[in-house]
Amino acid sequence: MVKSRKRIKPAKHLRLFIKTPAEMMGFAKRMAKVLRPGTTIGLTGELGAGKTTFVKGFAAAYKIQRDSVTSPTFTLINEYKGALPVFHADLYRIDSGDELTRTGIYDLDTEQGFLLIEWPEKFKSLANYLDLFLVFSIKKDGRLIVVKGKKEILSELESSKNFKRGKKTWL
Ligand SMILES: Nc1ncnc2c1ncn2[C@@H]1O[C@H](COP(=O)(O)OP(=O)(O)OP(=O)(O)O)[C@@H](O)[C@H]1O
Ligand SMILES: [Mg+2]
Repeated sequence: MVKSRKRIKPAKHLRLFIKTPAEMMGFAKRMAKVLRPGTTIGLTGELGAGKTTFVKGFAAAYKIQRDSVTSPTFTLINEYKGALPVFHADLYRIDSGDELTRTGIYDLDTEQGFLLIEWPEKFKSLANYLDLFLVFSIKKDGRLIVVKGKKEILSELESSKNFKRGKKTWL
């Protein structure tokens, strides 16, 4: 009998198609449960691509009310106190490296929680801080997400039971 072959090489990136906002939140929640505290995630994609919707689902995994997750456009960084702290930054309105430093993003203690950053690609200096990088794009009937980042985290996500058995799996 031929056994099904396991994938040996971890993926360079993972892809997923998400049809609705509810599905986006479900995906984020399942991902949040697989990732380890201390993980920093960059969320990239045009206006309305679903970045904040992703954060709402992610936060729900740590018992943070979805409604308390709002785009931190003026506060710049929100901290949601749940079962673990979830920090949420939106750099859309930040124009310089100095301004970015003044937000305090480099001083956050995220070891016991998570940091999610919208528009991180505006600042090269953030590249070293990101463990994962999600690229969202708007398609006719939903959103495509490409997940890039550290190999070991991609492997964990790829093999996690949270993404198997009838649940949404990678493309
Ligand atoms: N499949 C989908 N996944 C996520 N959002 C979707 C989807 N389909 C439609 N939407 C809608 O797209 C919008 C996404 O808004 P959201 O605030 O999450 O985007 P964003 O990427 O954070 O934008 P911004 O850059 O302005 O902060 C919402 O109005 C949501 O209802
Ligand atoms: Mg947003």
